[in-house]
Amino acid sequence: MSLVRLIYVSRMTEACDTAAIQDILKVSRRNNPARDITGMLCYDPKYFMQCLEGPNNAVNDLYRDIARDIRHTQVTLLDYQEIEERAFGQWSMAFLRGDDLDTGLLRKFGGRGKFDPFMLSPGQARELVIDIVNQKREQLKDQIESRDR
Ligand SMILES: Cc1cc2nc3c(=O)[nH]c(=O)nc-3n(C[C@H](O)[C@H](O)[C@H](O)COP(=O)(O)O)c2cc1C
Repeated sequence: MSLVRLIYVSRMTEACDTAAIQDILKVSRRNNPARDITGMLCYDPKYFMQCLEGPNNAVNDLYRDIARDIRHTQVTLLDYQEIEERAFGQWSMAFLRGDDLDTGLLRKFGGRGKFDPFMLSPGQARELVIDIVNQKREQLKDQIESRDR
């Protein structure tokens, strides 16, 4: 068993409305602690970006299920790597809206064009996720207890 972090992006489908997003979050926070999975889900009106951390077999199994979910499509793997420690160890699934990300961060990863998560290289995806947790730690604090729920 090794500890891994997987980052992907996807495009929402019409089957995904606000209630569906709430449901995804509820189910994630219910299921993930038992599988020793932590991470972050970021959503924007058009896409999801998710980071899953945990034992490789648990992450692989969950990713397989998520990729089949009809609430999104074009599920695209950005990065998958072995890690020494988790970035989101305190969160069963931290949740952020695209609007919460500051424009400086998006400009950093958008180059001269518009920010497009599908264009991120593995290294950029990793860096973005770490930048997010570092910048948003305060804002995400009130979501910490959810890991023990
Ligand atoms: C963008 C997205 C992210 C998701 N993230 C998770 C997750 O972190 N954990 C989880 O258990 N299910 C997640 N799901 C839901 C799964 O696809 C699936 O519906 C769920 O795991 C089924 O759980 P159940 O068998 O307990 O009903 C996600 C779905 C989507 C569309």
